[in-house]
Amino acid sequence: MNKDVIIACDFNSKEQLFDFLDKFKEEKPYLKVGMELFYAGGIEIVKEIKKRGHKIFLDLKLHDIPNTVKKAMAVLSSFDVDMVNLHASGGSQMMKGAIEGLTRADGTRPLLIAVTQLTSTSQEMMESELLIEKPIDDVVMSYALNAKNSGLDGVVCSPLEAGKVHGACGEKFITVTPGIRLAGDAVGDQKRVTTPALAKEIGSDFIVVGRSITGAEDPVSAYRKCVKEFLG
Ligand code: C5P
Repeated sequence: MNKDVIIACDFNSKEQLFDFLDKFKEEKPYLKVGMELFYAGGIEIVKEIKKRGHKIFLDLKLHDIPNTVKKAMAVLSSFDVDMVNLHASGGSQMMKGAIEGLTRADGTRPLLIAVTQLTSTSQEMMESELLIEKPIDDVVMSYALNAKNSGLDGVVCSPLEAGKVHGACGEKFITVTPGIRLAGDAVGDQKRVTTPALAKEIGSDFIVVGRSITGAEDPVSAYRKCVKEFLG
C-alpha cells in the first residue's frame, strides 16, 4: 500500500525507541529512522525493528559520487528496509546509480525518495551561498522532475506542495510529507503545518508525523487519530 502514516522516531537511544514501541500492542506502525537514531543505534537497531515487524523509512539522505551511493544503497537494500532517500542535488547519474544499487537479485527494491531543497534553505541562502538564482519553487519542481526522470519513486515535500508535485510529475509519483500536526498541537519549529486530514485532501501519499505522536500523552491514540484522519 503506497499510503500510510509514518512515525518519525527521533530518539537518541535504543531504550527510548523500544519504550515507545512497546506501547503499541495491536498496530505495527511504519517508522522513520533518521540520522540521530541510526548513528546512535547502528544497523542493529534497524534489524531489530524489522524483526518486530515494522516497515522502515531509513532517512539518511545520501549524497556522494555515483559509485559510492550505488554501493551504499546495495548495503541498505540488503537490510530489507522499505524506503530510503538521497539528495536530488547529487544529480541524475547518482540517482540512477542509487537505483541500480538498491535493486535486489529478484528485481525488488525499497522505495527511493529524493530530497529536493531542504525546507531549512531560504531563497536568500540559495542565492548567496549556493549561487542558484531561480525562484526556490521552480528549483524544487525541477529537482523533482530530475528525480522522476532518473527513475525515483517520489520526493519529500511539504503537504502544501503535494498537489503541485503530482501535477508536474504525475499522480503515481509519491509525496512523502512531514510538517503534520493534529489540530491543537504545538507547531514547534515547523513553519507551515497541516493536519492529517488536510494532507489527505491535498494528495499526500505518506505523512511523516513526529512530535504529534511521540510527544503525546497517549501516543497510541494519537497514532490512531492520524490513521483515521489520513487513511479512514
Ligand atoms: O516532530 P515533527 O512531526 O515535526 O517531525 C518531523 C520529522 O520529519 C522530523 O524527523 C524531521 O527531521 C523530518 N523532516 C521535516 N522536514 C523536512 C524533512 C524532514 O520535518 N523537510
